[in-house]
Amino acid sequence: MRSIIPDYLTEALGAVAPDNSGEPAGYIPELAAADPERLGAVFATVDGRVYGAGDIDTEFTIQSISKPFTYALALADRGFGPVLAGVGVEPSGEAFNEISLESDTGRPLNPMINAGAITAHSLAGSAELNPAERVERVVQGLSAFAGRRLKIDEAVCASEMEHAHRNLAIAHMLRSHNILTEDPRAVVDGYTRQCSVLVTARDLAMMAATLANRGVNPLSGEQVIREPVVRQVLSVMLTCGMYDAAGDWATQVGIPAKSGVAGGLIGALPGQIGIATFSPRLDSHGNSVRGVSLFERFSSDMGLHVMEVPAAARAVVRSNHVAGHGSDAIRVIQLQGGIGFAGAERVVRETLDTAPPEAGVALDLTMVYSIDDVARRMLLEVARRLTLDGHEVYLVDPESIMPDPDPGDGGRVTVIGDVEQALNSRAR
Ligand code: DON
Repeated sequence: MRSIIPDYLTEALGAVAPDNSGEPAGYIPELAAADPERLGAVFATVDGRVYGAGDIDTEFTIQSISKPFTYALALADRGFGPVLAGVGVEPSGEAFNEISLESDTGRPLNPMINAGAITAHSLAGSAELNPAERVERVVQGLSAFAGRRLKIDEAVCASEMEHAHRNLAIAHMLRSHNILTEDPRAVVDGYTRQCSVLVTARDLAMMAATLANRGVNPLSGEQVIREPVVRQVLSVMLTCGMYDAAGDWATQVGIPAKSGVAGGLIGALPGQIGIATFSPRLDSHGNSVRGVSLFERFSSDMGLHVMEVPAAARAVVRSNHVAGHGSDAIRVIQLQGGIGFAGAERVVRETLDTAPPEAGVALDLTMVYSIDDVARRMLLEVARRLTLDGHEVYLVDPESIMPDPDPGDGGRVTVIGDVEQALNSRAR
């Protein structure tokens, strides 16, 4: 049997292909010459499987899609404090090249607009780096996200630098506010080189999948950035990634995203997939026309909106029954699925409502595949309180889903592989 996903992608490309509205970016002559008919889409799963259709190995420049990744590098290299002091996180509701600076501090509103991205570029790597070393840090970092060594398209870079008056104006403004502390021209040159890194839709999907996979590249296994940085970057992508179309995007598509004027568009769905599309014709916001249509389809066809409400936590308690007889009987609360706060709250309530008369109580985790930190702490507190109430508490955990369970002061749990073990020990 053939996989259904490439067929779905081919069908989606066919549906958007007739739309030839929009224009390739005109303000960079090299980009204006791009083949406007190119069209591709890729899904990369968080375990590294890549599905694609159309032009997925055609190289084009990354442009503004480099911005979230360079922001991530700056956060990783300098820490949150210095980066937030230089760049805010408020949506500007304006075009990507608007001079959106806070009136008092001169701080750019967010790292997705050019003013913030130019600042973020200057904060990548350590403060001691010279401009060429900083560019190398950025290219090396983008390459780690992609899982292969990327290179710069010198022709596109030179073409943009010839017309970079607006970015130079922005950089001089930033320098006048001391947000940039280096030569503005060198920083714009470095930022333009960053935008001129060549990628394919396949690379972009893998870069997005690295964000979706908690900062770990699904193919190389490298932890490129830490989780707090991933959360910061995805939040800014969701609120600011599509510039003055960010609100429409957040409501209609609902996937943290970033576009680039060469026609690339990425989306990262936490814990699920990285998505990339490529089609050079742009709308008035500088976002790929067919890329936006594809993302709208993907989101509605597959329910990918991040605000999609998950199934009720009620299902966490699979059964609540008694095993064994007489004084050896055990109350078994059998749990299932992934347990977060809401699921753990159901377990707390179930235990309280049951007020188990049996001396032994077993929390059976055999069918649980994940427990997040708050749920783990809540279940251990349930165990501690049950112990204090005089119960013998068992954790049925054959796969050590909850390693080293320590319920704390006055609590005690006995970890067992199955309920039989508890019944046998009680019968002895
Ligand atoms: O700063 C610029 O103008 C470009 N090199 C990048 C702009 C861009 O990709 C905007 N996004 N859609």
